[in-house]
Amino acid sequence: MLQQVLPPGYFGMSDEETYPRIQAARKRLGSRLMILGHHYQRDEVIQFADLTGDSFGLSRDAAANRDANYIVFCGVHFMAESADILTRDEQVVILPDLEAGCSMADMADLDQVEDAWDEISEVYAGGASSGGETVMPITYINSAANLKAFVGEHGGAVCTSSNAAPIIRWALTQRERLLFFPDQHLGRNTAVKMGIPLDQMIVWDPRRPPGEYGGNTREAVERAKIILWRGHCQVHQRFLPEHVRSFREKFPGINIIVHPECSYEVVQMADHVGSTASILKTINQAPAGTSWAVGTEIHLVDRIRRANPDKFVSSLVPGVCLCSTMNRIDPQHLLWVLENLEKDRIVNQVRVPEPVASRAREALDRMLAIS
Ligand code: 13P
Ligand code: SF4
Repeated sequence: MLQQVLPPGYFGMSDEETYPRIQAARKRLGSRLMILGHHYQRDEVIQFADLTGDSFGLSRDAAANRDANYIVFCGVHFMAESADILTRDEQVVILPDLEAGCSMADMADLDQVEDAWDEISEVYAGGASSGGETVMPITYINSAANLKAFVGEHGGAVCTSSNAAPIIRWALTQRERLLFFPDQHLGRNTAVKMGIPLDQMIVWDPRRPPGEYGGNTREAVERAKIILWRGHCQVHQRFLPEHVRSFREKFPGINIIVHPECSYEVVQMADHVGSTASILKTINQAPAGTSWAVGTEIHLVDRIRRANPDKFVSSLVPGVCLCSTMNRIDPQHLLWVLENLEKDRIVNQVRVPEPVASRAREALDRMLAIS
């Protein structure tokens, strides 16, 4: 879908001017509208969400709502695509700003994954399990719909940061090995936690030319149990071991809690690791007087801090650690799409075409069934 540009009347409007109009539009649209908000959204936007959550919770919420005509997704593109795939054909999913993408999701495209798949399959073709697929593709939900379709077609599943362990466990009961994309860190951190040694994992660099096995030797590919795609989150890679050490030195007894998109070293040093929903719940439920340094996006960290004045809560990285694409959704775009809906005009719809949608749905449905 082509991005429509915010018209002049909305551009330059102050946040405060938008609030009463957003409220009024929501009220008039009533149950025809559902607004979903990811935890990384700014407060100015999340205050209008009917439901907030992590990427798993929001995909479940989208799938569960069979009634709303319009689902306005305040998040990023892959989340809106997943919602479109999981909702009825008649339900319209809108991303207020279509430029709200995810740089990690962009680190794997279909051509690259198909090339890697062919090369990897050729290595195992003569192995014990030849004649059937021996590798299970698993994609993090942070990926384009056509990659979810690829995974669905090959019998695999989607995972999120909150269900990666059960999905990987299931996958290894079905096949001998995994190809996990696009986030190497979520794959590695989850597999290590499940007891799979690091020396059974390799990293596949999609930028290496065919024949170079993603930067590995053929023997290393033959031995690998988990093949991790060389992708990462630009926000979470900013959290470093020295930040953990510095907090521990300055605040003895502090709890370090991080998202599993952080590096292996940081995750190993942390006291708690979990999805955005799990980080939120863990700190909200912690006893008063406890201290927390949090390795995830700053809007969520700030919101947790304000909701817990009886605790010390800080970002693990000094300064702003912002997901710039999540931040593209602002009250002006939200107001614009809502006021258009009131006039039965749909702007910035996210629609996944067939047959991609059906194939991707297989991979998403497997995730929902396993989780
Ligand atoms: P959650 O699944 O924890 O919401 O994370 C989504 C995401 O994009 C984290 O960077
Ligand atoms: Fe993508 Fe990272 Fe932003 Fe999450 S925080 S949406 S993984 S860029």
